[in-house]
Amino acid sequence: MIRAENLTKIFGPKPDEALRMLQEGQSKDAIREATGQVVGVDDVSFRLARGEFFVIMGLSGSGKSTLLRCLNRLIPPTGGRVVLETDEGEIEVNAAGPRQLREIRTRHLSMVFQRFGLLPHRSVRDNVAYGLEIQGVSRHERLDRAERALDLVGLSGWGASRTSELSGGMQQRVGLARALATEAEVMLMDEPFSALDPLIKMQMQQEIIKLQNDLGKTIVFITHDLDEALRLGDRIAIMEDGKVVQLGTPEKIITDPKTAYVADFVEHADPTHVISAGTVSVELDHDRVDVLRRVPGARVLSHRTQADVEIEVGDDGRVRAMRADEASVELVALDALLAEEAPATRYRDRAAVVRADRPLRALLEARNRCNVPVLVVDDQERLVGLATEREIIHAIIEKRGHHRVAVEVAA
Ligand SMILES: Nc1ncnc2c1ncn2[C@@H]1O[C@H](COP(=O)(O)OP(=O)(O)OP(=O)(O)O)[C@@H](O)[C@H]1O
Ligand SMILES: [Mg+2]
Repeated sequence: MIRAENLTKIFGPKPDEALRMLQEGQSKDAIREATGQVVGVDDVSFRLARGEFFVIMGLSGSGKSTLLRCLNRLIPPTGGRVVLETDEGEIEVNAAGPRQLREIRTRHLSMVFQRFGLLPHRSVRDNVAYGLEIQGVSRHERLDRAERALDLVGLSGWGASRTSELSGGMQQRVGLARALATEAEVMLMDEPFSALDPLIKMQMQQEIIKLQNDLGKTIVFITHDLDEALRLGDRIAIMEDGKVVQLGTPEKIITDPKTAYVADFVEHADPTHVISAGTVSVELDHDRVDVLRRVPGARVLSHRTQADVEIEVGDDGRVRAMRADEASVELVALDALLAEEAPATRYRDRAAVVRADRPLRALLEARNRCNVPVLVVDDQERLVGLATEREIIHAIIEKRGHHRVAVEVAA
């Protein structure tokens, strides 16, 4: 989709001396002392697949924003190149003239800034349509596309309001909608959620995942928040002093940090706090859950790998009874279960009931006490999923960010 080849950016009027020192392996600090030039990005190469979610992390000043801005040439690189791989062939971003560059920025690479720079006295709709206005899209189509983008970010009906009347989180969505309205294939996002409070941030993360799944966008996303990186990233690049010191899947970064700097970065990462119980459970209509029979007012289900455990689900969606090896199983809410001392063996006559929005960690603790599938329920206590060790391991293999859990389950 897009590739960076040996991208380098030196800030300052005399980059040659700095480049020479870089090639000699001198440090960023030494170069600045000797030449006054600042190394922004140092020989970075990567290739992003279509639909990939690529996260850039690193300490302040490590070169994240500079790298991102080199991609759409808001900052012209000192060396290296950026190539867009489009259906119509490759586009050399560095070689583009002003007109083509404008087209690249609107059609291929849209950018979401940390501060969106919304126009406060214009309506939400006009703000979203702004990029299209620059593209010369007709007014009718502009407004149409703006409306669709607002729908996508959950702001339908807000088009006529002024952006200054919206909350911070809503304004961030307007910025997102503006980038979406351009229908660019790649979205460059520089800490787009960093100013949000945790709840709204979580909501926006879910929205961006959904948008990416629905629209197949390729996303380059800068964040300081490791949990956010683990949650969103297909791959994460960690930057230090302008270099990418490690690039890999979240699992790889966490389980196999290549340098002490990366290790420091991920030391406190715990994905079991990030992933929800709902994500790891198998849904009831999944082919691993069988409906054994109907009884008046209820269905009797079982998990294919644990056919000796039966769960009777009433027509209201709630569990009415559960049996293991034909003996009755008591349903115990997670918190009650955890309040007890951990038993020496795992119960087979009790089952944990866990809300779907609880973290995986809680589900694991429950699973560690009960040797029957965990019942995952919604906020109305309706059964929405079952979790056996099999589901946990499947989730670990199939979904992003779950990998470290495998280690914990095995331990
Ligand atoms: N316009 C500029 N002129 C000179 N030096 C710059 C310029 N922009 C950035 N730099 C330098 O380049 C390096 C990388 O800066 P950059 O803004 O890319 O860091 P960052 O990783 O995005 O940091 P932050 O997390 O604080 O946003 C820093 O040393 C910075 O001082
Ligand atoms: Mg930055």
